[in-house]
Order: sequence, then structure tokens, then C-alpha cells
Amino acid sequence: MTSTQSQGSAPLLDVRGVTLQYKTKEHLVTATYRVDFQVFKSDRYILLGPSGCGKSTLLKAVGGYLAPTEGEIRLKGAVVTKPGPDRMMVFQEFDQLLPWKTVKENVMFPLLASGKASGRAAEEKAMQYIDKVKLSQFADHHPHLLSGGMKQRVAIARGMAMEPDVLLMDEPFAALDALTRRKMQEELLQLWDDTHFTVIFVTHSIPEAIKIGSRILLLSPHPGQVKAELASVPRDQAGAHAQEALAATIHEMLFTEQVEAQEVHHV
Ligand SMILES: Nc1ncnc2c1ncn2[C@@H]1O[C@H](COP(=O)(O)OP(=O)(O)O)[C@@H](O)[C@H]1O
Ligand SMILES: [Mg+2]
Repeated sequence: MTSTQSQGSAPLLDVRGVTLQYKTKEHLVTATYRVDFQVFKSDRYILLGPSGCGKSTLLKAVGGYLAPTEGEIRLKGAVVTKPGPDRMMVFQEFDQLLPWKTVKENVMFPLLASGKASGRAAEEKAMQYIDKVKLSQFADHHPHLLSGGMKQRVAIARGMAMEPDVLLMDEPFAALDALTRRKMQEELLQLWDDTHFTVIFVTHSIPEAIKIGSRILLLSPHPGQVKAELASVPRDQAGAHAQEALAATIHEMLFTEQVEAQEVHHV
């Protein structure tokens, strides 16, 4: 089944008219302009768009690391003003783990730091999620002994162990080789089948968006604005043909305007 669309009920996350800007000494960079979207419980919500369109900036704002210059972001009705254990981030970089801590200690760390669990309970919770990402045998290893894919699994386990309202993933598989990336995509879907967690997943890969997502928000290039929101191909109907057709539609929506603009430019 696809995720619950909870129509009629309040969204888990409500992003309204959000403009995000960076002020540097010389410039004012507008990263996103008046972006609206809503995420419901158990959505696998994708932010898709070309490099530089403001996907990471938007995710950081949901994380509470950056305040909108316009609009607001609400989680369960409350305005997001700072980071919190209800929103956990997973990044692209392999160096997001603490190198001096073991796998288990890395996964336990936010549980302990936030006071969500302590002692034996934190250890058990950490091991439960380490087991879900199939790394039980490596629980006492340090990150430098792990492959890139394994490190990303630890980062996912660490985020999920906190059982956040929403997991925020910023191109978590983009630095992996193609085969590992596909394997990780499948594993993420298996984890979702298991716990139906809510995730916002950033990618610039159209096939990845279609494979992972239940809904896809298309963002235009700089500054990022909403172009469309699409339902992905339901997983129980996910034939190659349906996926290719949706990929072609998305490709057209993302790039047609640019091509036209270029043509006009060259006349
Ligand atoms: N710290 C920063 N200071 C100034 N500009 C930034 C900063 N981070 C990102 N930007 C700019 O904001 C825009 C959106 O960036 P980003 O959110 O990283 O895009 P994406 O994740 O979609 O590739 C880009 O033009 C980028 O150069
Ligand atoms: Mg980015």
C-alpha cells in the first residue's frame, strides 16, 4: 500500500509561503521563494529539483537551523523555531558519525543527549535499530572500519532510533556507488514497511524520487519555487513502464521551460 494520505486531518508538517534567504556581506541570496507543501504521517515525501534550487536549504529550515524570511513552518501545529529531537537529519556525507565512538555509541548518542533514554534502555533501543539496518555484528566497530553504505546505515539507525516525528534525509545515497545505492533504496523501503515512519527525502535523481517517494514536490531552479506536486507510482503497481512514463513527465515539467527560454534567447 502507499502511505496514508490522511485527507481531512491536519498535516504533520505544514510549510506555508516559505521564502529562505542567505545574507552575505555583499549579496542577498534567495534560495526558495514562497514554497508551500504539507506532509502527512507516514508520507515518503520527496523534494526533487536541480542542484542549487534550495532543497537542502528547505530541509534545514524544517530542521529548525534556518528561519524563514517570509512564511512559516509548523510541526503538529507548533511553529518551528529551533532544532529538536522530533526532527532527525541524515546527510549525504560519510563523515557524519563521531569517529571516536563505536556504531552502538553513535546510535545511542542522541538518545542520551536528548534524555529520551538512558542506560540499558538506550543501549537496547540502539541495538534494536542497528539490527534493523543489519549491522548487529558491527555494533562495537568504529566508523573508519565501515564502508560508505554501512556508515549511511548507521546514520539512518541513529535517526530512526530517536523515533522522530519526521526523518529528514538530504541526498543520503548520492555519494554511494550505483549498486550500493539501489540496495540502500530497497532497504529504506523495507524499513518503511516495518515502521511506516514519516520521511522527507531530498534528491536530484528522478528515478530515485519515483522509487522512494509516495509524493514528489517538484522545485524549479534558483530560486526554488513549487512547480508541481505529483503522486509517485504506487509500489504495488510499480512496473518499469509506469515508472518510465512518470519519469518522462517529470523531466518535461522540470526542463521544458528552460529549453524554451534558451531557444528564445538564441533567436
Ligand atoms: N551558506 C550559504 N550562504 C550563501 N548562499 C548559500 C548558502 N548555502 C546555500 N546557498 C545558496 O542557496 C541556493 C540553494 O542552495 P541549496 O539549498 O544548497 O540547493 P540544493 O540543495 O537544491 O542543491 C544556492 O544558490 C546556493 O548557492
Ligand atoms: Mg543540497
